[in-house]
Amino acid sequence: MPTTVEHRYSQVVDRIVRLSWSELSVDELACVQSAYYYFSVQFRESLEIACQLFGDDRLLAQLKREECDTANLSPFPGIAAPGERMNHDEFMRRAVNASDIDPVRRARLQQSGERYLRATRALPDLHRALAITSYEDGGLEAVFRAILQAPDWDGPGLAAFRHFLTEHIRFDSDEQAGHGALSRHIVPDDRVLPLWTAFLDLFVAAAPGLQPQLACADAAE
Ligand SMILES: [Fe+2]
Ligand SMILES: [Fe+2]
Repeated sequence: MPTTVEHRYSQVVDRIVRLSWSELSVDELACVQSAYYYFSVQFRESLEIACQLFGDDRLLAQLKREECDTANLSPFPGIAAPGERMNHDEFMRRAVNASDIDPVRRARLQQSGERYLRATRALPDLHRALAITSYEDGGLEAVFRAILQAPDWDGPGLAAFRHFLTEHIRFDSDEQAGHGALSRHIVPDDRVLPLWTAFLDLFVAAAPGLQPQLACADAAE
């Protein structure tokens, strides 16, 4: 993560990455997927804010074209028709709806997701715009690789979520034309810390089975 290593928020990225993803049950993975839907709404709103604040930024405009009203996740069975254009949070909304989550749990996830959206919408526009680079230039890629360690992706909704994650690793990581390269000129700092802390809290509220794992160096002590 070239732009993030010296900041405190990168420690929060590490804390998310080091949660116990490889031990996550399929039920809790569906809850994580639901939590991620609310993140994806926040992400799209923050990208729209960034495009407003930096109105003549052609790279950000290109990034928005690859996240909003795009067919780059289509087709996917039961979720997106061939060539169908949509915002990525709409893809996630459909994926969550295709997952088997009991109604009581679904209501609880909606409550915590809406609480997350209220909290993040209260943050300054500039801080939300700066977060876009922290997401696109390595932060989300690390989180996605961690989530993909979950062992059981059974069911159509989770299959769609896995498609979303693996495709996003590809979108973000290309050194020349990836989403990291499209946002790297806007340099984030610890003003984005509350956004990352809220993301960590959102995951843990959705799936309390996610526990911190020791880093290799800690475990060796
Ligand atoms: Fe996306
Ligand atoms: Fe992206």
